[in-house]
Amino acid sequence: MTTTLIIGGTVVTPDGSARADVRISGEVIDEVGELAPRPGEKVVDASGLLVLPGGIDTHTHLELDCGPGLRTIDDWASGSRAALAGGTTMMIDFATQFHGQTPLEGLAAWHAMADGHAVSDYAFHLAFTEWKPEFADQFGALVEAGVTSAKMYMGYFGSMMVEDDQILAALRAAREAGIVVGFHCENGRIIAARVGEELAKGHTASYYHQHTRPEASEWEAANRLGFLAETADAGVYVVHVSSAGTLDVVEQFRARGVRYGAETCPQYLVADASEYGPEPAGGVADAASERHARQFMMSPPLREASNNDRLFRLLADGTLNFVGTDHCSFTLDDQKARATAFNQVANGAPGIELRLPLLWSYGVVPGRLTPERFVAVTSENAARYFGMFPRKGVIAAGSDADLVLFDPARVWTVRHDDLHDAGDYSQYEGRELTGKVRDVFLRGRQVVVDGEPLAELAPGQYIKRGRPDLTVR
Ligand code: URP
Ligand code: ZN
Ligand code: ZN
Repeated sequence: MTTTLIIGGTVVTPDGSARADVRISGEVIDEVGELAPRPGEKVVDASGLLVLPGGIDTHTHLELDCGPGLRTIDDWASGSRAALAGGTTMMIDFATQFHGQTPLEGLAAWHAMADGHAVSDYAFHLAFTEWKPEFADQFGALVEAGVTSAKMYMGYFGSMMVEDDQILAALRAAREAGIVVGFHCENGRIIAARVGEELAKGHTASYYHQHTRPEASEWEAANRLGFLAETADAGVYVVHVSSAGTLDVVEQFRARGVRYGAETCPQYLVADASEYGPEPAGGVADAASERHARQFMMSPPLREASNNDRLFRLLADGTLNFVGTDHCSFTLDDQKARATAFNQVANGAPGIELRLPLLWSYGVVPGRLTPERFVAVTSENAARYFGMFPRKGVIAAGSDADLVLFDPARVWTVRHDDLHDAGDYSQYEGRELTGKVRDVFLRGRQVVVDGEPLAELAPGQYIKRGRPDLTVR
């Protein structure tokens, strides 16, 4: 068996950082400590670098069909290649049960798209676009298939929104089966009413997106979800938290004994609603302002800037538990350009490659996060919560050798031309970041060398997940 020795780096885990060498044997980590090279062994010099556990992105939407001409632009090949380039060795994507399908049909469709095409490792949450009582009959089969998490939408009235009684039924079935359900927490009815009001005034600019989806809509849904979870005695988590006030709600339910997890995304930590510009005269923006705003059209929307710092504090203190990207990429020049009003703009943004560098640059560099907390929220916590620990998320003997050699001091500027996704923009174009991925190993194979994924990459592996560990960390 060929072995590889990563020598001279600083290994970072949630418990501490220490100078240590890592020996890889086949697909797994063999030893961690002070190690001497063996004859014939491949040696990788990691002096001056951090050795991190491969990142786990808890929230992606690859090849998601959002309507005619609106399939997300990253397929499994391009999306997973971009993930690797950014130090994410595994993602959990949302296999979607579309209207009229069963959950298992949705899952089969996602396997057909990903298997043999993904170059990172991957798993699936099951996303429901509706709820029918008979879906509960398939929960056992989902668990057998390694799908131990699901998602429902409390927003998107008239399309994917589910009602409270349906949430309750789903939570009861999920608890029985050992599945944790994440929720898109926005009040779909408030939003539908507010969108109608703005459009009636002729306000079509993307500027209005934020005002039709107020923070209170997220708080209300998170609060309702807390009571529903308590009623069903089921663990839940809130996906893509955009507003710090939502975590006040989450904390109240945790104090009542509800097992309530929370995920946020880089965009809510490093960007704010000023990206939507000032209110345009007459409610219609000029072309350049509208184009800029559309890069950030996602739900929930960006918030007032004070949320950035508050969310970082809540990420540091354990209130927020893991960071996914909600990578849901549409082209700016085509897919996002088609809409004539804000409520039609293709909803979602890219981000899969920049999660680690953004969090390092805006989190660790200014002292908002320790390096140890950084690895907890980008890797280990997700592995634990979503039933993959200790195979994933940890640098220890016997675990998969998913490793990132990260240069914490490298200063670089985001240029979409240098990224690896299939889209046509980065909303962070021109930002100067500190901290960059140099090399990446996926189950022992080096897949990124000096920031560039290899031209030929072997298929990634579907990871069957076990029971979620709902302890929040
Ligand atoms: O804007 C977003 N987030 N689009 C993807 C679907 C979702 O709500 O996660
Ligand atoms: Zn969502
Ligand atoms: Zn999403």
